Amino acid sequence: MKAFIVDQYKKKGALRLGDMPEPVLQDDDVLVQAHAAGLNLLDSKIRDGEFKLILPYRPPFILGHDVAGTVVRVGSKVGKFKPGDEIYARPRDGRVGTFAELIALNEADVALKPKNLSMEEAASIPLVGLTAWQVLVERANLQKGQKVLIHAGSGGVGTFAIQLAKHIGATVATTTSTANVELARNLGADVVVDYKKENFEKVLSGYDAVLNSLDGDTLRKSLSVLKPGGKLISISGPPDPDFARTQGLNWFLRQVLRLLSSGIRRKAKRHRVNYSFLFMRANGEQLNQITSLIEAGIIRPVMDRVFPFEATNEALTYIETGRSKGKVVVKVR
Ligand SMILES: NC(=O)c1ccc[n+]([C@@H]2O[C@H](COP(=O)([O-])OP(=O)(O)OC[C@H]3O[C@@H](n4cnc5c(N)ncnc54)[C@H](OP(=O)(O)O)[C@@H]3O)[C@@H](O)[C@H]2O)c1
Repeated sequence: MKAFIVDQYKKKGALRLGDMPEPVLQDDDVLVQAHAAGLNLLDSKIRDGEFKLILPYRPPFILGHDVAGTVVRVGSKVGKFKPGDEIYARPRDGRVGTFAELIALNEADVALKPKNLSMEEAASIPLVGLTAWQVLVERANLQKGQKVLIHAGSGGVGTFAIQLAKHIGATVATTTSTANVELARNLGADVVVDYKKENFEKVLSGYDAVLNSLDGDTLRKSLSVLKPGGKLISISGPPDPDFARTQGLNWFLRQVLRLLSSGIRRKAKRHRVNYSFLFMRANGEQLNQITSLIEAGIIRPVMDRVFPFEATNEALTYIETGRSKGKVVVKVR
């Protein structure tokens, strides 16, 4: 099968379009013919080698974390899916590789694709949808009437998270540049801070939660936005000791992560808020709930561009500009 392959870890290195053996199906796997694959900055970071210690993929391996497609075969223990089902998924860590014609997925990672979405739209959802869900619903336990700041409201995570937070009934503030203010408003954001004109930390206060996906400076400034007891949840780092524990990292790495996050944890304590790092996980059950919200018209995908499969490298270069509005997808077939 055709696939985009990492032959060696290399910063900005191009993926090779080559042939790989068809995936081996385990008893609880479904074999999926990919129609579309979503791109994420995690793909670039893995290719660059930034995640080598935490997610040790051995080259040559296939990259890609989001897929929509059709089930072509199922393992002997699969109960939820049958050939012909249209599905979407974020494969679990260790088993990624959606930039390919076929992928084997553990059925627990899979959900039926929302009926009202095209394959390209569906492929844009799993990783960012699950991230927003796990930050806002699981970790922040966001409630109706609470206030949440979602940074980078025009990005992949931001466009989904704004809509989810509004559905929960929260008051939502977001940051974006002038060109994307209208987009953020249309998604339902109550307060849109144009970072070209205003400093968010000067205009926002008393918030219950912040979803940070930006740099360390933004993370520190976000502390003053929170009320005592508020939650600062970062998906862009630094990783914290709890994350190291749940990943089962060795003693040395646990100490490194403890050190990396010690500054922000100390500052958070001083502000009487809670800091935590979140790394999203595959979860078919949560994706099912996301399917329901999309089919009910509560959340819609925000698509920037669809590239042909052959242009996967160009698509990666495009998202690496950090300017995409919503999601970028490649059409596999
Ligand atoms: N830990 C996890 O599980 C996890 C999961 C998903 C993503 N992530 C990470 O989270 C980050 C965001 O991911 P993403 O997919 O949402 O990225 P993305 O789609 O590439 O984000 C692009 C958007 O960011 C906005 N942006 C850039 N700088 C900004 C700033 N200073 N203030 C406000 N907005 C800004 C841009 O808007 P403008 O053009 O208007 O500036 C653009 O629309 C990445 O680092 C990614 O790796 C982590």
